[in-house]
Amino acid sequence: MAVSRLEKAIGRLAACRACLELGARMIADLPGPVFELGLGNGRTYDHLRQILPGRDIYVFEREIAAHPDCVPDDDHLFLGDIADTLPRAVERFAGRVALLHADVGGFDRALNARVAATIVPFMPRLVRPEGIVVTSVVFDGLEPFDPGPLPAGAEPGTYFMHRPLAV
Ligand SMILES: C[S@@+](CC[C@H](N)C(=O)[O-])C[C@H]1O[C@@H](n2cnc3c(N)ncnc32)[C@H](O)[C@@H]1O
Repeated sequence: MAVSRLEKAIGRLAACRACLELGARMIADLPGPVFELGLGNGRTYDHLRQILPGRDIYVFEREIAAHPDCVPDDDHLFLGDIADTLPRAVERFAGRVALLHADVGGFDRALNARVAATIVPFMPRLVRPEGIVVTSVVFDGLEPFDPGPLPAGAEPGTYFMHRPLAV
């Protein structure tokens, strides 16, 4: 039987959770804030704050539409297009970010590629060399990191991990 869209979505979300949780373990001893690019309805933001208690999490979003429980306070929110807000963040957090999760994509592959190309040049200046970049689409220009076998139910090749340094 063909894999249904529901099963694909579940597999992708399971891969997302596995990559975020591996990233969180990898930065356990690494100081620095977490960046969440794309709040959406706040699912991954909520998970990150649960698995990284006490860690500052800064959210980048152009339009807040999340569950009210999952909206960060003003001090942790960069409201606007990432093309405008990321340059400001680099000035403030240069080289200090421990984990960055970017889920600003959708179904439009060309648009995803353009957004990724906007974000990638900032990574080496923003994220610690030992830090981790977790993404919902492949980010060309960063060093891919193999998360290893994913838990049962997680669909390999649907969520991605990188090191920040350009190869
Ligand atoms: C797929 S959703 C994020 C879902 C979220 N990770 C979750 O689990 O709920 C993508 C979000 O990125 C935001 N976004 C897309 N492009 C953006 C841009 N250029 N600047 C700021 N936000 C952007 C959209 O508004 C949308 O809310």
